[in-house]
Amino acid sequence: MSQSQVGLVGLAVMGQNLALNIAEKGFPISVYNRTGDKVDACVARAKEEGNLPLTGYKDLNDFVQSLERPRRVIMLVKAGGPVDATIESLVPHLEVGDFIIDGGNEWYPNTERRAAALASKGIGYMGMGVSGGEEGARNGPSMMPGGPRETWELMKPILSKVAAQVDDGPCVTYIGPGGSGNYVKMVHNGIEYGDMQLISEAYDVLKTVGGLTNEELHQVFTDWNNGSLNSFLIEITAKVFAKRDDQGKGGHLVDYILDQTGMKGTGRWTIIEAAELSIAAPTMAASLDGRFLSALKQERVAASALYGDPTPPSGVDKKQLIDDVSKALYASKICSYAQGMNLIRAASISHDWNLNLGEISRIWKGGCIIRAIFLDRIKKAYDLDANLASLLVNPSFAAELNESQGAWRRVINLAVNTGIAVPGFSSSLAYFDQYRRARLPANLVQAQRDFFGRHTFERTDMAGAYSAMWEE
Ligand code: 6PG
Repeated sequence: MSQSQVGLVGLAVMGQNLALNIAEKGFPISVYNRTGDKVDACVARAKEEGNLPLTGYKDLNDFVQSLERPRRVIMLVKAGGPVDATIESLVPHLEVGDFIIDGGNEWYPNTERRAAALASKGIGYMGMGVSGGEEGARNGPSMMPGGPRETWELMKPILSKVAAQVDDGPCVTYIGPGGSGNYVKMVHNGIEYGDMQLISEAYDVLKTVGGLTNEELHQVFTDWNNGSLNSFLIEITAKVFAKRDDQGKGGHLVDYILDQTGMKGTGRWTIIEAAELSIAAPTMAASLDGRFLSALKQERVAASALYGDPTPPSGVDKKQLIDDVSKALYASKICSYAQGMNLIRAASISHDWNLNLGEISRIWKGGCIIRAIFLDRIKKAYDLDANLASLLVNPSFAAELNESQGAWRRVINLAVNTGIAVPGFSSSLAYFDQYRRARLPANLVQAQRDFFGRHTFERTDMAGAYSAMWEE
């Protein structure tokens, strides 16, 4: 019996789609799922979608035995306990030299723990971030594999064909050792949260201050998608505004959707990590806080009775507002990505991962949720200077930030005066305004710390640590 080149365990939609993608690229694949109905569904799809070389198994041992050696097993099961359970069931069937790749959104220390346990058995283990949702998995995701380099080399031919393809190659690269693949995917998701928050603020300002209709919003986002804001999230946002209600109520679906954002946790991990490594990440943190506050629907409704609704100004110049909001959005995005990239770099230093920020930006150019034309510029910024302290000091981003400042401040002023929260825009501007200042009021905080706790301070004019007698 001819053997499959790769196996995949976990046939929810993402798993099925990735398996079909792998088969379609010409790699015979075996698939297995704990419940047999999904195996049947996947096998049926492989047949329908072009008689793809995919074989389904309902017995785990048969599945493992169907793989050529060293066996390559991709897992797409729920993070946490289910991953541990799957590994436990697979291991007795595997041999030295085989390896497992976890394609889920996993907390990176879990990957490192599993890798260490499996290494003692001679089994390789990788944590691989996969982005792009169901559509990406089927037609070309962005993939972030981390772990032993030898394992990557064995997976490279398959992953390079399965990934989304952009002008400078496939959207996959060896990220680095340990849990770095999961880490980079986690930050990708933090950035994703930030992007979505910023877009929702642009929507709120245009709708509430500018009075734009859904038709107008559809047109604005479509136009933006043809310019420097071109990205997957802007593209789908334009489509959202065009969608009519599907329950026969009339109007647009977006207006019927409850204003409470759910989440699975990767954005939260990003902020925990940022705090752990002392990296300022206010745009991503604002997006997380935005989700927390959105959850308090009943409290918000009660509070709105106490304080009333925002009062939009009259005589707003719509054209000017649209232009200003696009600049505020773009400038805030630069700040958000600067925070994300700096977090990745801090983790790289702290874990000795030796991550390549330019290459990471490159594999985000296609396939993933944050894919955007803008990522090519980020890649170029790191190509120009791999040790760039921040995207904010790259000359071309700095020129744009200077050019956008007026519009950015106007939008925030207008929103604040109306009573509309723009925490993503304003925390990004605050980040910029702190980063660009040669002198901050931190001298006063140091004085206070020394006053009440003798924590000492340094002086600007003389070396050494000082403490003062603050009161006679
Ligand atoms: C991706 C996404 C995906 C994520 C969802 C939902 O890159 O394909 O990031 O991995 O799970 O977007 O995330 P939340 O439920 O936390 O919003």
